[in-house]
Amino acid sequence: MVKIAVLGHGVVGSGVIEVLQKNAQSIAKKAAQEIEVKYILDLRDFPDLPYSDLFVKDYDIILKDPEVSIVVEVLGGLHPAYDFSKAALEAGKSVVTSNKEVVAEKGAELLKIAKENNLNYLFEASVGGGIPIIRPLNQCLAANELHEIYGILNGTTNYILSEMIHKGKTFEDALADAQAKGYAERNPAADVEGIDACRKICILASLAFGRHVYPKNIQAEGITRVSLTDVRYASAAGGAIKLIGQARELEDGRVFAAVSPCIVMQENPMAGVEDVFNAILVRGDAIGDVMFYGRGAGKLPTASAVVADIIDEVKHLSARKYLYWVDAGDGFIADHAEVSSRFFLRAEGSFEIPAAFGKVVPVCAEGVEGETAFLTESINEGEFDRARAALEQAGVKVLAVYRVID
Ligand code: HSE
Repeated sequence: MVKIAVLGHGVVGSGVIEVLQKNAQSIAKKAAQEIEVKYILDLRDFPDLPYSDLFVKDYDIILKDPEVSIVVEVLGGLHPAYDFSKAALEAGKSVVTSNKEVVAEKGAELLKIAKENNLNYLFEASVGGGIPIIRPLNQCLAANELHEIYGILNGTTNYILSEMIHKGKTFEDALADAQAKGYAERNPAADVEGIDACRKICILASLAFGRHVYPKNIQAEGITRVSLTDVRYASAAGGAIKLIGQARELEDGRVFAAVSPCIVMQENPMAGVEDVFNAILVRGDAIGDVMFYGRGAGKLPTASAVVADIIDEVKHLSARKYLYWVDAGDGFIADHAEVSSRFFLRAEGSFEIPAAFGKVVPVCAEGVEGETAFLTESINEGEFDRARAALEQAGVKVLAVYRVID
């Protein structure tokens, strides 16, 4: 019998208890022993729950109980989640979490403490909700050199964009709808400003490339400026607008990562990923492209990933799993001006497209007049910035720019 404590009884925490209870027998078989929830930490009272006797408000009770060998942190937010996770590892307890903020900000430090104490810090649920991605990246694709990962990492924004694309709703109306359906948070900034997707691409990049990529070091732009006219242009260009998190390892070993709305061309399966679904493409030198697809958020999908980590941890109580990256400072993060991408640009008025943009293909959207829009070929992003700045200096008002993914 392994005893665990669950920190937080919100959406994910209550889902974890539900899955552990509902599938107790099969989980015990897979873990080769029973798993008992000894404590649930929450400041609120839940007197009507059949397991109300498990609730405690003082974290010290859990920390000081030698019977608890696994702490499941599903609190969300950086503090006190980070402090509680660190204290658990220092007290000799392995930690399982769904908290992408803590992993993205403090992953290297917590993984180091886990390693020093011969424990594990597992976080499958932190990216892609129920989609298996951390373990496949770390284990199943271990034979590959991984050089690129990109994907739709936020369900709320993908829902909003899908409503804009297919139902012609404005961003504001689609956001209100997402909030009414319970997808978006009441304060939706983390979703719509690209902060949530930024944390997730940082976790994937850190794992794939072995060095901690911190959110503060990468450019993240959300979808608040996407207009219905942009959506129309994307369709006319043969694609769809998606919020994409991307990370690439350059030939010199440095890493480029970014989050931005992109026009994804229809030939790419990611263009057809709709609603709250997530999709992640991993490019390996031996396997080629692999795509992971599924529900990236929600109570039970996320709980499914958390419980899988609990089972894995129960099976590895006295053995470390090699899931690790190091803090290597900031020097290995490449600026966007050093990489190349294809771009879409639309601007007011009619003008001759400057040669500085390279070879371009004009784009016309039905019902849009008095504008010039075009797609570039792959161009150095620094050169593109300079060509755009020169255009603006010549008096042209640029209305929108998107990276393009073929
Ligand atoms: N707000 C997140 C999303 C939840 O919409 O994808 C899952 O991380």
